[in-house]
Amino acid sequence: MGCDNTQCTMKKQFYLFCFCVLLLCLFNVWQKTSPSPIPDISQRNNGSGNVTILLWHWPFGRPLSLRGDVCWDRYRIPHCKLVDQRSLFPLADIVVFHNTELAHGSQELPLELPRPKGQRWAWMSLEAPANNGNLKKYANIFNMTISYRRDADVSVPYGELLLEKTEGYVVEDNSVNKSSLVCWVVSNYGTQQKRSQVYQELSATVPVKVYGNWKNAHLPSRDLLPVISRCYFYLAFENSVAKDYITEKLWRNSYQGGALPVVLGPETSDYEAVAPPHSFIHVDEFASVKELGAFLQQLAKDKKHYNEYFAWKRQWKVKLYKDWRERLCKICLQYKSLPQQKVYSDLEAWAYLKST
Ligand SMILES: *[C@@H]1O[C@H](CO)[C@@H](O)[C@H](O)[C@H]1NC(C)=O
Ligand SMILES: *[C@@H]1O[C@H](CO)[C@@H](O)[C@H](O)[C@H]1NC(C)=O
Ligand SMILES: *[C@@H]1O[C@H](CO)[C@@H](O)[C@H](O)[C@H]1NC(C)=O
Ligand SMILES: *[C@@H]1O[C@H](CO)[C@@H](O)[C@H](O)[C@H]1NC(C)=O
Repeated sequence: MGCDNTQCTMKKQFYLFCFCVLLLCLFNVWQKTSPSPIPDISQRNNGSGNVTILLWHWPFGRPLSLRGDVCWDRYRIPHCKLVDQRSLFPLADIVVFHNTELAHGSQELPLELPRPKGQRWAWMSLEAPANNGNLKKYANIFNMTISYRRDADVSVPYGELLLEKTEGYVVEDNSVNKSSLVCWVVSNYGTQQKRSQVYQELSATVPVKVYGNWKNAHLPSRDLLPVISRCYFYLAFENSVAKDYITEKLWRNSYQGGALPVVLGPETSDYEAVAPPHSFIHVDEFASVKELGAFLQQLAKDKKHYNEYFAWKRQWKVKLYKDWRERLCKICLQYKSLPQQKVYSDLEAWAYLKST
């Protein structure tokens, strides 16, 4: 059976139309399945280029200015670009996620975005493990850690010592102006905390002056250091006992306040690794809290030995870290020595590592 001319033309036109529609569909499917090219940034920065660090969300929702070349202008760290615009994700060498907001659910990881090859995701927290929430869900996601831990990929302690030989340093008598033997500042008192038990035993042996909200003796921050300076000893008791968890209670309150710290926290070797030699008294050094109390009483009467605990000030200066920008800029100093390939397959286990 043939077809007449008009029928044939219509048929041909119909088939042509179908063919075109098919082509369009195929093209559409191809476009959707073939991924948009993922940038490869892995080779970009081992030369002289800038490292781009994207902070996905600001810690505690408090943004700071990133205008200008922040890392250079403020900290003299070169080739370090700190940004917080999420649109720069495809260009970022490192994307930093602060854990608190993830743990509270106010922020989420952009797991749906294709990760550029070579981009590292960094988990950042300055909290002790007990306050980090459940980290089990972060298996095989992060490439690096930013924490106070000495073994973090980028270690950002609460404070550190800088060697500073000061010629003609005048040795002070640190035992003057003291009106209290032992002082403690505490806001959140938990009866189950190790520090509370030690406090109870200690205060049964020697007078302990307590400030802070627990005793309804709120201390405005401007009064903190002056008050501590009038104490022989300051209880730098951490609220959580964890590897390397040594906070501003040591670096600022004790060392800058000018009272000799009695520390409770990680084991002595963790303190020795970072603190000045002969600059603190660790509660673990004593067989009992009673003995600790007796020792403190003796030491306060012995000006010479008491002052020996401050001899470190001749050589060392305490540096505090308080600004998130400084911590983030520090990443760039270590960028080149980060391992080429690393994945935290069990972040929870890493976070709960014990002191060794
Ligand atoms: C980075 O290093 C690799 C090998 O060391 C080299 O092949 C590559 O050219 C370098 N890239 C840049 C941007 O310097
Ligand atoms: C690095 O950043 C600085 C300051 O923003 C800029 O002047 C310079 O051109 C950048 N260098 C490269 C290689 O991108
Ligand atoms: C003791 O107090 C006096 C007067 O307030 C002050 O000048 C001095 O620096 C203080 N000494 C120490 C070691 O804190
Ligand atoms: C970062 O982690 C991801 C997810 O596990 C992994 O695919 C990627 O290879 C890692 N990148 C680097 C630079 O280690």
